[in-house]
Amino acid sequence: MNNLLLKYSEELEKLEQSGNLRSLKNISDHDFKVNLSSNDYLGVNKKNIPRPKGNSFGAGSSRLLTGNFSEYDLLEKELEKLYAQSALFFNSGYHANIGILAALASKGDLILSDKLNHASIIDGIRLANADYMRFKHVDYKHLEDILKDKRNEYNRVFIVSESVFSMDGDEANLQKLIEIKNKYNCFLYLDEAHSLGVRGTKGLGVAEECEAIQDVDLLVGTFGKAMNSIGAFVICNPIIKKYLINKMRSLIFTTALPPIVISWNYIMLRTIVKMRMEREHVMFLADKLRNRLNDLEIETGGSSNIVPVIIGDSQKCVNLAAYLQKKGFLVFPIRPPAVPVGTSRLRLSVCADMSWEDLQDLPNLIKEFCNEN
Ligand SMILES: Cc1ncc(COP(=O)(O)O)c(C=O)c1O
Repeated sequence: MNNLLLKYSEELEKLEQSGNLRSLKNISDHDFKVNLSSNDYLGVNKKNIPRPKGNSFGAGSSRLLTGNFSEYDLLEKELEKLYAQSALFFNSGYHANIGILAALASKGDLILSDKLNHASIIDGIRLANADYMRFKHVDYKHLEDILKDKRNEYNRVFIVSESVFSMDGDEANLQKLIEIKNKYNCFLYLDEAHSLGVRGTKGLGVAEECEAIQDVDLLVGTFGKAMNSIGAFVICNPIIKKYLINKMRSLIFTTALPPIVISWNYIMLRTIVKMRMEREHVMFLADKLRNRLNDLEIETGGSSNIVPVIIGDSQKCVNLAAYLQKKGFLVFPIRPPAVPVGTSRLRLSVCADMSWEDLQDLPNLIKEFCNEN
């Protein structure tokens, strides 16, 4: 083999041996009875929502040039009406998270990030020219200890957390984060990727549920999950919006999403606000599944509609997922680097288009497999 390739193939070999090799699969969820791996939490994909007509499939350039169609204005105005603050739309949650902190935080600033924050947040922190420290997962005593020690050494401090954590399904204590950010005069950055659509009366997220939208300085939501589309936004002060338009590289240096997507997002936003029954159903189902698993002494985590079942060993987790797939449940093993080493897991994503009949066999199947392996 070519010398230049050797190192890569050795690394791939190691991934395979540890059960952590990934590959792209051709999967149609029609082949499965239940899809437990989707982030379409409200089951919107199966709903017959009228498609937008007559918009272009290409934006032609960045939003800063000719890609800023009137559809963007409509969507941002709708977000601003719902959240009662300024809104700025981006191409994806990944674009949002790699760009916002990189633009806002600079030398002399400090970023404090929950240890289990998503990879896109970590990448954004790496791109920012500021110091950063991680606090232990949802450990606000640790966060406060760092602030007591360090706050005076820095100009601006950004506290960054997900509201519902993507791989653990557990939640930040938003009231506590707000208390701390006020006490130490920090910005609070909240990624609501997994709560948008699912939480709050209108589905605006955990901040809505806690009646605390105005207390979050940078509230990020993505249309890639419960909105069943693509794109993301930040809710913020108008000065921050103006600053990001001028400084945020992942907004400025990329082609805008096509107008048809933005029109679809507008339709989705207005639809999802009204899907209160789906929100109630999805939480009811997730609670029932969690309780049933726990009755069988299968340990679960979290408190949201994301139900993790921690297996530990990657290969065992791969085998369990394959076993469940054979039984008709579309479940994938979640392995490092998405989660810490030794905590490979199933991430059961409960969605509103499921019924208890769809899920009821799953706990016993997991139990059977664990008893035998
Ligand atoms: C917490 C969190 N933030 C951001 C993202 C990225 O969002 P998007 O899929 O829109 O790029 C994800 C998706 O995996 C996520 O889990």
